[in-house]
Amino acid sequence: MKSHIGLIGLAVMGQNLALNIARKGYKVSVYNRTAQRTEMFVKNRVRNEEIEAHYDIKKFVESLEKPRKIILMVKAGKPVDDTISQLLPYLEPGDLIIDGGNSHYMDTERRYEELSKKGILFLGMGVSGGERGALHGPSLMPGGSKEAYALVEEILLKIAAKTDDGPCCTYVGERSAGHFVKMVHNGIEYTIMQAIAEIYHIMRDVMKLVPEEMSQIFEEWNKGELNSFLIEITYKILRKKDEETGRPMVDVILDKAEQKGTGKWTSQAALDLGIPTPSINLAVVERIISHFKNERVKLSKLYNKKRNTVQKSDNLIKDLENALFFAMLAAFSQGMWLIAEASEEFNYNIDLPEVLRIWKGGCIIRARLIDTIRKHVSYNNAYLLGSKEMISLLEDRLDSLKRVLRMAVDNEIPVPAMSSAYNYFMSMTEEKLPANLIQAQRDFFGAHMFQRIDKEGVFHIDWEEGEIV
Ligand code: 6PG
Repeated sequence: MKSHIGLIGLAVMGQNLALNIARKGYKVSVYNRTAQRTEMFVKNRVRNEEIEAHYDIKKFVESLEKPRKIILMVKAGKPVDDTISQLLPYLEPGDLIIDGGNSHYMDTERRYEELSKKGILFLGMGVSGGERGALHGPSLMPGGSKEAYALVEEILLKIAAKTDDGPCCTYVGERSAGHFVKMVHNGIEYTIMQAIAEIYHIMRDVMKLVPEEMSQIFEEWNKGELNSFLIEITYKILRKKDEETGRPMVDVILDKAEQKGTGKWTSQAALDLGIPTPSINLAVVERIISHFKNERVKLSKLYNKKRNTVQKSDNLIKDLENALFFAMLAAFSQGMWLIAEASEEFNYNIDLPEVLRIWKGGCIIRARLIDTIRKHVSYNNAYLLGSKEMISLLEDRLDSLKRVLRMAVDNEIPVPAMSSAYNYFMSMTEEKLPANLIQAQRDFFGAHMFQRIDKEGVFHIDWEEGEIV
């Protein structure tokens, strides 16, 4: 019997996805560039599942029923192109390749074009949920042609995470829409992680709490409106002890955060498309700053932080909870706005509430809050701020956010995600920004013209008479 589907790339994500598919009753052929990894996978992890290992890519392709469906779980970038090149000689028009990695959407756009010319179908599919998600139910964000999606819809719906709103998989949109949406998912992910880290920083260095105490607070928050995967893992992280030293695990981890690029790509795309995503941008920047450990250590000796201790109180904990909620909402506002703009600019045809629906389960940014914002999101209100209810949600938490920001400023704690959420909200709700002065400056030094408030057209004046002869 031929396999229903093939999977290439047996790092942990690939292994888990193959097992997930096989456990839903499908026969899966697998292949990996290095044979040893395939052997280990079969030996250590495959039990009763119908998984057929292949060590030759031609035989792997031949083992699949037609039209062939092949999921690539290889590293983003060149490995994806290399794998496609190796597959192409054995594929026929109508066969389908699905790239399940974190590929840059422009790469997906190019691959989609190139493969279309050859009659090969292609889906760029965001897969979120990490190793566990891949095994037990990820959030899947496939983009490409509807025809391609129809070929694998049944399998994808079965392997995806399930919520009260159905499986966390939908046809996201045309061409690279799936990878674009996954990229923005990660931008939001970076921002929420940064905001949580800022709260932790305040708890650690101003409130002087130990991780166990913080863990209890995060655990409590997870029962309320902050309920989310990232809050859940945070309280679990904070209570974890290092087996070697017995110290809280978080205390023995170096304060340098890595990144594989998806957050940066989100900011780059936002800057290119002209959509403000300040919180996402600063979350990326803060990871970059974290890398300058030596410099930070050196500078910390030159500058003494003025820092007091603030006692834990119910009011303060409520303020922190509210501030975090505000920052989370701002992250979704910026991300959804970016997706809406990209959809219009690139003709992706993305259904915004559907994107939020498939983020309700399986993915890293799954959160109770998504149910609320899903009711308000639309192309007229992609940034979410445009409805009175959303504004009220933020307004109700604004005093808390201000108190938290003041406390951070007073105690010299950097809070870029939370302060940018505040500034984003304040800028967006400001009828009259000081940009008139910036226009005047531009016109002064560069004759860049300006618009007037009292008549149509563009204007330039001589700002200093008699200067130019
Ligand atoms: C997910 C994650 C996943 C991965 C990122 C982390 O949705 O499952 O986002 O894709 O953990 O690659 O990204 P950084 O390495 O850039 O933090």
